[in-house]
Amino acid sequence: MDDSHPRILDFQCIRDPRGNLSVVHGARDIPFAIARVFYIFDVPEGAERGGHAHYDTQEVLIAAEGSFDVTVDDGHTARRYTLNRGDQGLYIPAGHWRMMDQFAPHTVCLVLASTAYSAADYIYEYTEYLDYVRSGKMSGKK
Ligand code: TYD
Repeated sequence: MDDSHPRILDFQCIRDPRGNLSVVHGARDIPFAIARVFYIFDVPEGAERGGHAHYDTQEVLIAAEGSFDVTVDDGHTARRYTLNRGDQGLYIPAGHWRMMDQFAPHTVCLVLASTAYSAADYIYEYTEYLDYVRSGKMSGKK
C-alpha cells in the first residue's frame, strides 16, 4: 500500500434498516498497526481542530457520525477533503500538516493512530513545519 500520500480508504459497510454497521479490519484496511484510538466530539460550531503535523504518527480520520472538512498539507500542496461517511476514512501519512473544520453538529471524528501519544511527536508551528519539510527528513516520505 502507498503510505506516502493522503488518500480515502473504503471500509465494509453492512447496511440494515435497523442502522448501518461499518467494519475496519486493521491488517487489511489500515496501512499501519493501530496503536491508539481516540475520538473528538462535542465540537462547538465554528471550531477548528488539528493545526499541527506529526514526525512519526500516521493516522486515519473517520467521520463516524456527522461531517467535517480536513485540509492536508505536505508543505507544497494543500488538499481539502470532506468526510461525511461512516464507511470511509482519510489516511494521513506522517509528516503532513492537518487542520479540521466545518464540523456539523453531533459529529464524531474517530482517529486511528500508529503510535502511543507523545507530545514530542507534534510540530505546532507552521514555519517550523516548513523548515522540517525543507530539511528532507520527513519519515512519511519513503
Ligand atoms: P490534539 O492532538 O492537538 O487534538 P486535535 O488535533 O484534534 O486538535 O490534542 C489536544 C490535546 O489533547 C493536547 O493537549 C494533547 C492531548 N492529547 C492526549 O493527551 N492524548 C492523545 O492521545 C491525544 C490525541 C491528545
